[in-house]
Amino acid sequence: MLLFDLGVLITSLHFVQPIGYYSVISKRKLSTTPTNRPLPLISIIIPTYNERARIRKKLKNVFEKTKGENVEVIIIDSSKDGIEEELREFSDVKLIKQQNRTGKIHAVKEAMRQSKGDIVVVTDADAIWIDPLSNALSYLNGKVGAVTCVKHSYGELENSYRDFYNDVRVGESAMFSTPIFNGEMVAFNRNLITPEEIPTVGADDSTIATLLSLKGYRAISIPTMRVVEESPKKILEYLSWKTRRGSHLVRHFLRNVIKVMRSSNKDFKIVFAEETYLHTVGPWFLIIGLSLMLFSAPVITMGVIAIASLFMVNKRFRKIALAWIPNQIALILSQFFAMKGEVIVWRKELK
Ligand code: GDD
Ligand code: MN
Repeated sequence: MLLFDLGVLITSLHFVQPIGYYSVISKRKLSTTPTNRPLPLISIIIPTYNERARIRKKLKNVFEKTKGENVEVIIIDSSKDGIEEELREFSDVKLIKQQNRTGKIHAVKEAMRQSKGDIVVVTDADAIWIDPLSNALSYLNGKVGAVTCVKHSYGELENSYRDFYNDVRVGESAMFSTPIFNGEMVAFNRNLITPEEIPTVGADDSTIATLLSLKGYRAISIPTMRVVEESPKKILEYLSWKTRRGSHLVRHFLRNVIKVMRSSNKDFKIVFAEETYLHTVGPWFLIIGLSLMLFSAPVITMGVIAIASLFMVNKRFRKIALAWIPNQIALILSQFFAMKGEVIVWRKELK
């Protein structure tokens, strides 16, 4: 019975810990207020690799959501898909062609060097902004050095689990900063960071947020800046996508955790330590705990699982559980994947 008890303990810890974190962090509300001052020149960087089919929709969306603002739009492209053909009607868009595909991070850094705006915005080609960009940029002043969006979906049920993650990001932002940024919209004040300071990594978005936080600036997620992102529909593509993104985050946390723990900002340290735990040790507790339980008392364990699944009749609970459990498995796969080293140029999944 000892093994079973241990299994119960570890499994419970897996669930209780994040639930506790969620209930504390989601109560935090952003107290920072946006300003009404006119925005300076904004450089909008769109790195592209084989995005010809999407780019017109993307550009229309960017111009619509920045109406009235002073913007320069830069596409930095490393494909041979004839994207130029699609850009004819957008004479004011600057296109930088790269000879070879060297990964998003190199593209972003190069475009930063060739841009002029006081605010730099990086946005993925497959992301569509729902809200005007100024909703987020108006927070950029004083101690707030970087802002990012929240992820939205058009399905209400889908949003119930997205809101769960968004609430955490916004709550962390209210504490000080969130160490996880969304590449669908990342904006920062140019004078706070040079391209040379940004390491050659996969998780460019979260790295920028963490770098600025270590410099004493806040990197926050804005709930009124909602973005929809395309995701792979086929299960294997989806898994490959999740695993790659997860491995970038795993490496991001492991690379920075010691640096952050040695820094002096207590609030950021708490958030960073928690997220490092959730991306590394946490998922193993589910697997190890459940395995111990199944191994020592299979029948009782199946009974417990059956009772727990009764909660699944609640739609919201079901949605969160159905996002949480596969996420844990993807995170474990991500950790193995992360051992391969930093993947800068990744396979493009079908979306
Ligand atoms: N120029 C250039 N060169 N652009 C690239 C390259 C490249 O080698 N590779 C990818 N991109 C562009 C894509 O065309 C897209 O606009 C953007 O970079 C993000 O790439 P996706 O392939 O769509 O990535 P994702 O949305 O699945 O990835 C998410 O996680 C990444 C880290 O794993 C996003 O949040 C990314 O921003 C993040 O870097
Ligand atoms: Mn994307």
